[in-house]
Amino acid sequence: MSHNHKTILLGITGGVAAYKSAELTRLLVKAGYTVQVVMTDAASEFVGPATFQALSGQPVFTNQWDKRIANGMPHIDLSRDADAILIAPASADFLRKLSHGAADDLLSTLCSARDCPLLVAPAMNLQMWENPANQRNVALLRQDGIAILGPGCGEQACGEVGDGRMLEPEQLFELVENFFQPKPLHGKQVVITAGPTFEPIDAVRGITNSSSGKMGYAIARAAIEAGAKVTLVSGPTALAAPMGVNRINVQSAQDMLQAVLQQIGTADIFIGVAAVADYAVKNRSEHKIKKSDADLTIELTPNPDILATVASLPAAPFCVGFAAESQNLLQYADEKRRRKNIPLLVANLVQNALGADDNEVILLDDAGQHPLPRAPKKQIARELIRHVAEMLASE
Ligand code: C5P
Repeated sequence: MSHNHKTILLGITGGVAAYKSAELTRLLVKAGYTVQVVMTDAASEFVGPATFQALSGQPVFTNQWDKRIANGMPHIDLSRDADAILIAPASADFLRKLSHGAADDLLSTLCSARDCPLLVAPAMNLQMWENPANQRNVALLRQDGIAILGPGCGEQACGEVGDGRMLEPEQLFELVENFFQPKPLHGKQVVITAGPTFEPIDAVRGITNSSSGKMGYAIARAAIEAGAKVTLVSGPTALAAPMGVNRINVQSAQDMLQAVLQQIGTADIFIGVAAVADYAVKNRSEHKIKKSDADLTIELTPNPDILATVASLPAAPFCVGFAAESQNLLQYADEKRRRKNIPLLVANLVQNALGADDNEVILLDDAGQHPLPRAPKKQIARELIRHVAEMLASE
């Protein structure tokens, strides 16, 4: 399960959002990070160290004079072991301390003694967030190259609504993951289609397919991690858009084509992952069709091929297609690549791929076949993005 060996020093300061950091710890540990938790005294008033000790599997430190560290210098040892320090939640008071180089407790001392990047996730009441003194401190932290994650906007524990709440654990986890990935697509614009399409029959019915959108969303996320600006044109799915992605929701293949053509102008890369319906309903009824005993015929008409349309634009971006086949995979897939005139095609045998969390694919390009062994879609997506970046760089 562990796909990385990074150590995060998770600093927890006094705020009710500390309870969310328990979930964040769990997400990081599950993804293979070593999480070393350090808490301030105020944080321990909200959640006990035992909770973080159990979730991280590591001793939790709160005190500068902790005897468990052999050489008596926990502020040095703990920060040297970390690949990054993340303060979540970061209270207004802790931001003040950080921005002025305070070193009067274990967490502030190891932040000032660090030789690794520092990320902070503010969490406070909206008036406290907007307080000019706090904004001055945040501006100082930005000047010092400290990454400010959020805050989010929404309902607060005090009942008010506005900016100041800590980002959700899942969002912070994504930002930490982004932080560690290489950025071969920095400055590139990527347009991705994902999910099924929905071709209306009447006001309430339609034809769709069982595409979950997971592969396309994983690729959108991997492209964000790689530093790209990403637009995700998505058919109906139940998935949350990755952080930082511009998602455009569409229903039919026609809508999807229009949205893609609107977005494609300055794009460097187009990745067609959507399971676009091959046909749309020709005699679509505006109102719900009434039931009767007579046969009902629904006429279908071919949909435009979005990928082939984009690939044939005069200033076409680098195009990547997907091919799902249930037989003769490589032959059909390579024919498809040539017919649609695209440099890279991702071929997968459809057995179990739709809706699953894992996938196993073969990348086909002019250089030949590159099999990617069975792995979670997230990993397949990262390897695909790496391959695309390499092909672009060598163009
Ligand atoms: O021809 P086939 O549907 O198998 O091709 C699959 C690839 O083409 C996928 O990348 C899919 O997103 C794209 N496609 C498209 N528009 C269509 C049909 C397929 O963009 N109408």
